[in-house]
Formats: sequence, structure tokens, C-alpha cells
Amino acid sequence: MSQPRFYFVVVDVDPLLAEDAGVLFFELGATGVEERDQTTLVKGLVDKTTLVASFSSQQEAETARDELDPAWLPRIEELVGDAWRDAWKEHFRPFELCPGVVVHPPWEKYAGQAEHLLELEPGRAFGTGLHETTSLVATALQTHRATYAGGQVLDVGCGSGILALVALVLGAGNARAVDNDADVIGVAQENAERNGLQARLDVDTTPVGDIAPEFDMVVANIEADVLVTLAAPISARVKPGKLLVLSGVLGTQHDRVRAAYADFESVASPARGEWVALILRRPHANG
Ligand SMILES: C[S@@+](CC[C@H](N)C(=O)[O-])C[C@H]1O[C@@H](n2cnc3c(N)ncnc32)[C@H](O)[C@@H]1O
Repeated sequence: MSQPRFYFVVVDVDPLLAEDAGVLFFELGATGVEERDQTTLVKGLVDKTTLVASFSSQQEAETARDELDPAWLPRIEELVGDAWRDAWKEHFRPFELCPGVVVHPPWEKYAGQAEHLLELEPGRAFGTGLHETTSLVATALQTHRATYAGGQVLDVGCGSGILALVALVLGAGNARAVDNDADVIGVAQENAERNGLQARLDVDTTPVGDIAPEFDMVVANIEADVLVTLAAPISARVKPGKLLVLSGVLGTQHDRVRAAYADFESVASPARGEWVALILRRPHANG
């Protein structure tokens, strides 16, 4: 039987242009765009962001390539067979996500000592924990675990469910996780089951504004534009006096996101690489 063929257009762009280039790819008919840089599982070049856009046919890929800025060095790559889909697995090895929490994939157990072990299979969902935006939130969950001990944590944009699971092993009583991508819900549920945490995690596609409010900690690792758009419903889910952690924010986007949550007090803005997280506290009603 003949093997399936996959067509990609690959470009190397200035990191500041990566977002616009991604949008352009979708306008040109891409069915998906993978970004590679120094922070991603599959590394890109040092000073550039490599975008790998998939197309349904060779002709669509060639048409798109011809529309692109030649300075981006657009080129076609063709892959035969679908073993490449799992190539990222080679890069996912056991690692310490934050002090005391080691994450490992199902295909490689961890031989060392760890206070908490989480087995994680992200599948097609975002959330191995290797990305800075995830580890910034995990570290905040670790640092501020006393503020939600025994209470309820909400994870908005849960992907693999990794942050809700970290909150649970660090002492949350229960967690709620939501994502607007229906495909990741089963992944997050399976990850909860792998770790025996399913009884304490509810995960579904409920829009954040429809969730009953009053969480002891809310975390959201989504992109800056979404965090700004969802500022009102996300803010309303945090109990007065409790913490909100926002991630997925580039250093250059910090002030814009901060302004959207102007009612909150700043606790800290830890950074890793080009990424920054905002740790904010909802003031008590009387000030
Ligand atoms: C960067 S991933 C984060 C995954 C995981 N929480 C982590 O920290 O590794 C962002 C996730 O947010 C989801 N997302 C994007 N917009 C959303 C929205 N408006 N409501 C809920 N989830 C959203 C995406 O589907 C994706 O799974």
C-alpha cells in the first residue's frame, strides 16, 4: 500500500514577524502551522523563528510558497509516511517542571527521587511542560501553594491538563480545567486518570464566563490577545484576596496585558527567555 504524502512550506523569519507570518500562512490555506525556535521541543535557528506550515496538496503548497517574501527563504518539504508525527517524542524526557514536581512521559519512567511524579502524554495537545510559559505558571503554583491549599483551582486553556494536575499534586482540593479545543479534553482527562487524580478534576469546553466563579487560584496560559479579550470573565473567577497567574505573554506584551487587569494588584512578573508571567492578586472588596 502506498504511504501518505504530506506537503509543508518552511520559512525562517525574524521572531518579531512570526505571528504575522503564521496568520498569512492560514490566509494562504495552511491547515496547521508549527513554530520552531530555541524554546520549542524541535529547535529552530538561533536568531530566527522557523515556521512549518502544512498544506493539503503539493499544488496548494507551491501556490503559497510563491506568494511569500523571498527573504524568508520559502521552501517546500515533502514527507512520506506519518512517522514524523511522533518525532517530538524523542525530545520529551523526564524533567523537573518546578521544585518537587517531575514530569515524565509514559514511555520513559523516572529513576530518581521526586516529591511528586506526574506521568503525562500530551498527544496533540499543548502541554509537555517544556515550554517556558508552562514552567512559569507551574513555578508560581509551587511558590504560592499555601494560598490555594485544600481549595479550588481553575486552569483556563488547559491543553494536556498539566497545570491543573500540578495544582492538584501541590495541594489543591479540586481543579476545574477548560479549553475551547474539544480535541484536548479527552487528553486532559486521560492524564488525570494516569495519575489517579480524575476524581478531583473536572475538564470540559465550558466558556470561562459560564463557569461558577470563586476560585482560590486561577491560571491561564494562553496568548496575550486572548488574555486581553477574556479579562473580564477571567478576573471575575478569582476570589477576592486570591491569585491569578497569566502566561503566554511575551515581554513586549506585558504592559498591554497588565492594563487589561488594572483592577488587580501586581505580586510579581517572573520572566524566562522572552516570556513573562503576571502574578496578580484580586483586591478585597473593601480595598
Ligand atoms: C499554550 S496552550 C497551554 C496548555 C497548558 N495549559 C500549558 O500550560 O502547557 C493554550 C491552550 O489554550 C487554549 N485556548 C485558546 N483560546 C482559548 C479560549 N478562548 N478559551 C479556552 N481555551 C483557549 C488552546 O486550545 C490551548 O490548548
